[in-house]
Amino acid sequence: MSDSFPTQALHIDRQQTYPDSVFPHVIAYDRDAAPAMASDEAIDPRVRPWVFEHCEELLSLATRHGAVAFRDFPTKTVDAFDDFIQGLGLENFPYDRSLSNAVRINRTPRVFSANEAPPDVRIFFHHEMAQTPLYPRYILFFCEIAAAEGGATPLCRSDILFKRLTERCPKFASDCESKGLQYTNVMPDSDDPNSGMGRSWQKTLGVDSRDAAQARLDELNYSYQWLDNGCLRATTPPLPAVMEVSPGVKTFFNQLIAAYCGWKDERNDPSDAIRHGDGSRLDRDGVAVAIELSEELAYDHQWQVGDIVLLDNTVAMHARRPFVGTRKVLASLAEMRTHAFELASS
Ligand SMILES: [Fe+2]
Repeated sequence: MSDSFPTQALHIDRQQTYPDSVFPHVIAYDRDAAPAMASDEAIDPRVRPWVFEHCEELLSLATRHGAVAFRDFPTKTVDAFDDFIQGLGLENFPYDRSLSNAVRINRTPRVFSANEAPPDVRIFFHHEMAQTPLYPRYILFFCEIAAAEGGATPLCRSDILFKRLTERCPKFASDCESKGLQYTNVMPDSDDPNSGMGRSWQKTLGVDSRDAAQARLDELNYSYQWLDNGCLRATTPPLPAVMEVSPGVKTFFNQLIAAYCGWKDERNDPSDAIRHGDGSRLDRDGVAVAIELSEELAYDHQWQVGDIVLLDNTVAMHARRPFVGTRKVLASLAEMRTHAFELASS
């Protein structure tokens, strides 16, 4: 990958090695070969054409390795990150069209804060929006300010997790695949920034009245109930829990771990948050093994200002470690996809 914008593959601390991939794949800008052209505050005019020229290769690296981290790039500002994303030529998946339950703040039309939840709130492993019928194929993260302590973004290869889960808990893995999952959460009447899942029902559904909320939920095939305090309890239709990303390769494409471990706030009790698609309860031991594997397989990305990480959301899961101080990690979603699940008739 070359020329007036020299880059090189880099080995990074705690990078994982698999037979035909590494995790994450890391591309570093080589400042010794060609110093940055612009000051750190400005957009370097070589970045976007470089991304554009290599976009197919970068996306296929993301799919093969699960994640591609860009280090030491002359991308230190939100505008530089936005410019990088535009080089990829992907369709934007705007936060306001998503059914995400996280509170986020847009910085540009396609860049927003990753989650406004307080620093001590841990966010557990998940595939972005796998708990809704609409999800992004790709996610990009960018570090604007690194935390004084903690604040890594753990990443996990979901294909490897599912393979190991199938070996250790074949029945649970097969139940996940054959029965799918459904998720229940209680959305507040107005944004609750103290929760990792505090987005109001109005914003989550993109509506401003109860009638419009109900119409949207009916369209999405959710069941729901209005609570006395103005909150809305909604349950998704059954959704897939496993995705075949290439022939014979399956990922644990869901939000099981996040919902089970982390969907906890003053409105939500994690034990009510998730069931199989037929309404049956999850096997606790199977869930415990999935959680254990996710931690065992975790690569913690320790942010440096200006880092960009591109994930294929169907291959890698992500999470957030608690932190101390100010941390600004921004995100962008691309290429909206839909998924649905048909329960086999018994
Ligand atoms: Fe996320």
